[in-house]
Amino acid sequence: MVNAPTRYAEALLTGMLGTFGLDAEYVRAEKNSLFYRDDTGAEVQVLDLLGGWGSLMLGHNHPQIVAHAKELLDNGTPVHSQHSAHPVADQVGAVLNGILARELPGAEPYSVIFANSGAEAVEAAVKHCEFDRALRIKALVEEIEWHASAALAAVAGGTAQLPDDTSLLPGDVPVPTNAEEFGALLGAVAAHNMARAGTGPVFFALERAFHGKLVGSTQFTYNPLFRAAFASLGPAVRFVPPNDAEAFEKAASEQRVTVLDVQVVDGRVTLVERDFPVVAGLIVEPIQGEGGIYGLTADYAARLREICDEFACPIVVDEIQTGMGRTGKFFASAHIGLVGDYFLLGKSLGGGIGKTSAMLVRQSRYRPEFELVHSSTFAKDGFTTSLALRTLELLEAEDGAAYDRAAERGERILGMLRELAEEYSDVVVDVRGRGLLIGLEFADQSHSSSPLIRERALAGLLVFQLGSYLHLAHRIRTGPTASVPNMLRIEPSIHISDEEIEQLRTGLVQVCEILRNQDALPLVHPLTGTGELPREIRDFRPGAAAEAAPAERKAALVSPVLTPDTLRELEPSLADLDDDRLIAYVRRSELLKDLPAFAPVRFDSPQGTSVDLSVYPLLVTGQQLREYQVTGNTFLIGADLDRRVRAAKADGCETVGLGFGLGAVCGHGSALRVPGVQLTTGGALAVGSALVAAHTVGVEKYGEVYGLTVAVVGAGGRIGSALAAMISAEVPRVILVGSGREGSADRLRATELRIYQEAWEQIAAGGDLLGIPKLLAAEPLVAGWLAEGRSGDEPSGEAIAAHLAEAYDENPFVTVTDDLSAVQNAQAVFTAHSSPVPVLGEKYLAEGAIICDLSFFGSGAESAVASSRSDVHYVRGGVLSVVNQGILPRGVSASLGAGELLAGVAEVVTLALSGSSGSTGDGPITGEQVHAIVELAAQHGFETIST
Ligand code: F0G
Repeated sequence: MVNAPTRYAEALLTGMLGTFGLDAEYVRAEKNSLFYRDDTGAEVQVLDLLGGWGSLMLGHNHPQIVAHAKELLDNGTPVHSQHSAHPVADQVGAVLNGILARELPGAEPYSVIFANSGAEAVEAAVKHCEFDRALRIKALVEEIEWHASAALAAVAGGTAQLPDDTSLLPGDVPVPTNAEEFGALLGAVAAHNMARAGTGPVFFALERAFHGKLVGSTQFTYNPLFRAAFASLGPAVRFVPPNDAEAFEKAASEQRVTVLDVQVVDGRVTLVERDFPVVAGLIVEPIQGEGGIYGLTADYAARLREICDEFACPIVVDEIQTGMGRTGKFFASAHIGLVGDYFLLGKSLGGGIGKTSAMLVRQSRYRPEFELVHSSTFAKDGFTTSLALRTLELLEAEDGAAYDRAAERGERILGMLRELAEEYSDVVVDVRGRGLLIGLEFADQSHSSSPLIRERALAGLLVFQLGSYLHLAHRIRTGPTASVPNMLRIEPSIHISDEEIEQLRTGLVQVCEILRNQDALPLVHPLTGTGELPREIRDFRPGAAAEAAPAERKAALVSPVLTPDTLRELEPSLADLDDDRLIAYVRRSELLKDLPAFAPVRFDSPQGTSVDLSVYPLLVTGQQLREYQVTGNTFLIGADLDRRVRAAKADGCETVGLGFGLGAVCGHGSALRVPGVQLTTGGALAVGSALVAAHTVGVEKYGEVYGLTVAVVGAGGRIGSALAAMISAEVPRVILVGSGREGSADRLRATELRIYQEAWEQIAAGGDLLGIPKLLAAEPLVAGWLAEGRSGDEPSGEAIAAHLAEAYDENPFVTVTDDLSAVQNAQAVFTAHSSPVPVLGEKYLAEGAIICDLSFFGSGAESAVASSRSDVHYVRGGVLSVVNQGILPRGVSASLGAGELLAGVAEVVTLALSGSSGSTGDGPITGEQVHAIVELAAQHGFETIST
């Protein structure tokens, strides 16, 4: 089932389907079943209730249609014989006319224009409507002109009197008193008419309508997602609410425009108002399909006919989805007695194999000239029209038994669904449909207590998640209706069996149980790999919780779901999934990483302020973040972060921290510009608290630290660089260790130069010196600068580095390497690398070394070494204690105990409590920032821990 990833043919869409495990490659189809191959090559059968979006009334590959298609090909039947006689196409028209006469008694004959898709049939109708309107305008104009010249002649000949009323013309035109003035009046009438002749066309369609997605037809499709971007390309369409005849009548009369005619009435020339055809047509679906399975009533249909007759507005009935017997009659219009001026068919007209559609137009409205201006290469081809004819024969056989079957099967499914809706009235809000066009609408889940269910509902993707489950766990394929987010669409063929309906019932009962119990496990489990699904659905409904009054300030931490544990904590129903499965799920959710925020945790400062911190999780693992960072593939995660920061802002958070490596993938916030949000990527407090902790331990162990050699693993990173620069002001020798990855050497070099630069600044500033600055001050180059009075901010790093390279075989102060064994020379080691797995094996550590661990964004990836080497003193770097505070989700607090907080999180809280700004941007973390935040954090009750 795992295919090669799609790269060219709708890669995004296929990727999104893959997120839900819906990207199976089907290799065979039969009746209501599609088959794909599993990993062993065995066929897996899926019950297909999507039915080619309704184009499979007779099921997949109906044997008689297939046989007919083969026969046509075997006989060498011409497929393309354009511009010749097509008796088969005419026969299709004849059969359709027979059906129309039967189902809508009294209907006159209809001419038929073939097309290739539903939307094309819609556009053919739209074009015909406008063609017809133009011809009606032409006739009207000609008639008015004829009347004018007749009136002129009558006045000249003395057989008609001059008009005595010109009030219909705007602008107080005087009543004419002679032939010359009458001529001027006729000129004014012509100008008046001319000014109105360009009005229209305006089309009407119904709210929730779906009529296709081509340049023209997409304007008739109500959903703005499909329409809005293309509005400037298409016809003007006004939408009116369905089943509200008054609304339509009002809207139609608002479009009314009249022109003036000059007629001789009772021997006097008289100005008469004539309706100008502005409205070109109204298009309706008898049952709205994609728009959510809503039917029109018979009363409404009758009123539509009346109103449209009054306004000379043709009615286009789009039966592309409802026709071909799907609703129990060939035309769904027959249920409500709606006689259209046009009928459109598509989808199943090709028998599930051919792709064809048809536009039928009432012959009294038909404009034969249309045939000379409208065509398509493929329309009315020999092969497809013959398949259509065969399809109609099959449907019409045995007195239309197929229609009865559609009605009977439909009732059976609807009955089953209605029972379900009754039993699960808490999760099913409606069952709608007729025949085999059915919708099952679930209750809104945007307040679900399950974060996963909630998030999918908020994103409008709940039906995809439910569809995913039905597909993977029950082998049932259903469709969504893009315009009604919580609806499953069910459009099987007439061959659906009792067993298949039972299969559907079983799956849907489980879906209802899942939603009722808010258990996300069954939804997630099938996406994490193969294996038996835990059978029973468990109850994860929350108990009633008291809501605390909100704190005065709100802050957010956007955090990856760093470890599987975080996800388990977030979504307790997933607790039984092992790490591999959870990681598989997270990876599958690459295109949908949002999760709703955790309930906020309160922090009260001794200063009297308080803040509610909410964690906004992103479904991404630390390993993935590392991959993004290493490959530079940060576009998607950058967009994810931007969205989460904006969500936090919308929730009222003024300070937002980016946790755990998220800073590194977005230029430490430099790529995020969200106005009104104080963004911090932390780091300064981590550096400060690690230094304090290491210092405390160093003093305990050695009495003082000023003679130690210190290694910094990950010294090219933002935190590592700041640590190395600050520590080198205290110790005589530092070892900068990098990953050896591309760019690493440059980053280490930058850290080295920074050390020299900052050392020179200190030397130039005067005062007591320690560590490397003290030693460098004795170097002749530097001593010379001092004597010259050179300024502290002059660029000096490069010059010092060059000097040292010249003066020493081996640099006595700073060692730069990607060889971890250099760490053996250090008595103290800071780890500040971004690898989620330990890099520092015990063999690299000197006897009795102190290791201050800030690795993997402070989550302590190197902790294992503490248990394997009892001589080593392991200190969690960047952990702070905070008294009497709430407990953050485990993953976010990186398995810390109550009362402990990672520095990155403490920094967000500190900034929010104090209302000051954080450290963002690509620039380095400076010593000043570090000192300032350490001080602020202490004021708000955070203390460094040195264990
Ligand atoms: N009209 C109706 C009523 C439709 O349902 C559709 C398509 C079209 C026109 C356009 O037909 O796709 O062949 O160009 N409906 C599908 C759906 C896409 O989701 O039900 P097309």
